[in-house]
Amino acid sequence: MSNWLAPGGVTANPSRIGIFDSGVGGLTVLRELYRQLSNESILYFGDTARLPYGSRSPEEILQFVREILTWMASQGVKMVMMACNTSSALALEQVQAEFPFPILGLIWPGARAAAQQGQRIGLIATSATVKSDAYRQAILEVHPDRQVWQVGCPEFVTLIEQNRIHDPYTYQVAKQYLAPLKAAQIDTLIYGCTHYPHLAPVLQTLLPSRVSFVDPAVHMVAAAAQELDALGLRSNVPAWPTEFYVSGAPSQFAQVAVQWLGHLPTVRQVRLPAATSLPTVNLSSGQLDTSS
Ligand code: DGL
Repeated sequence: MSNWLAPGGVTANPSRIGIFDSGVGGLTVLRELYRQLSNESILYFGDTARLPYGSRSPEEILQFVREILTWMASQGVKMVMMACNTSSALALEQVQAEFPFPILGLIWPGARAAAQQGQRIGLIATSATVKSDAYRQAILEVHPDRQVWQVGCPEFVTLIEQNRIHDPYTYQVAKQYLAPLKAAQIDTLIYGCTHYPHLAPVLQTLLPSRVSFVDPAVHMVAAAAQELDALGLRSNVPAWPTEFYVSGAPSQFAQVAVQWLGHLPTVRQVRLPAATSLPTVNLSSGQLDTSS
C-alpha cells in the first residue's frame, strides 16, 4: 500500500498498526508485537500529559480514547490495539463501532487465558479497571467456578513512569499491594495494567513460585494475528521502524523507553485533534442532540 500526507504534513502509512497507552505501559505490548508480528509497522502513542488514566472517570477515558483514535484514523492505521487495560475496560465497546478499522482490547484475551490457566485468580490493575469489574465478569463468563481477587495499585504507574522500578520504596509498596493476594493463596496473577510487567522482577520475588503470571498482551497480540489473517491484512514485507508520539515531554518518555527497547527512540510530541463529535442522546428528552 502507498503512503500519503496526512493533515499536518505527517507521512501516513495505512499499513501500520496503531497502539496506545497513557505512557510507557504500551511498550510491554510493543514487545509482544515485535515477538509475534515482526513484519508489522507500528505507530505508538503515549498520552503522557494526561496520565495516570487509572484515577480518571469513565467519561474522561472515553473522551481521551476518542481523541486518540481520531488522530490515529488521520494517520491511516489498519488496526488499533488498546495497549491500556483502563481504556479497554471503560471505552472499548463504545468506540468499536465508531471507527472504520478493527480495535482490540486486553480484557477478554487476558481473562480467557487466566480462566483457562488457574482456579484462584488475582488481578492487579488500576483503580479504574478494578472499579469497572470488567476482568472478574469476563473470567466468570468463561469459567463461572473461578474465584477472583482484585487489587487496585494506584502508586505503580507513577513509580514506573519515574523510572523507580528498582527503588526500595517500590518494593515496599508492591509488598503491601500483594499481601491480600498472597493471603488468598492465588495460583494465578494477571498483570491487569500494561505498565506492571515492567515490575516483573520485583513482583515475581514477592509471590510463591507456584503462582503463574498472565500477561494479557501476549494473548491480545495472538488474537490480533488471527484477525489480521482473517481480514487478509497481515504484512509480508519487513516492518518500518516504530514511530513514537506522546502528548507530554518526549525526553522523559525516551529515557524510560531506552531500557525497554535497547536503544534511544526518536519521540515526537503531538497535539491531538478534537474527537470526531458524535450525536448523543439527550437523556431527559430521549431526542438525538447534534448540537455539540
Ligand atoms: N497502562 C494503562 C493500563 O493498562 C494505564 C495506566 C494509567 O495510566 O493509570 O491500565
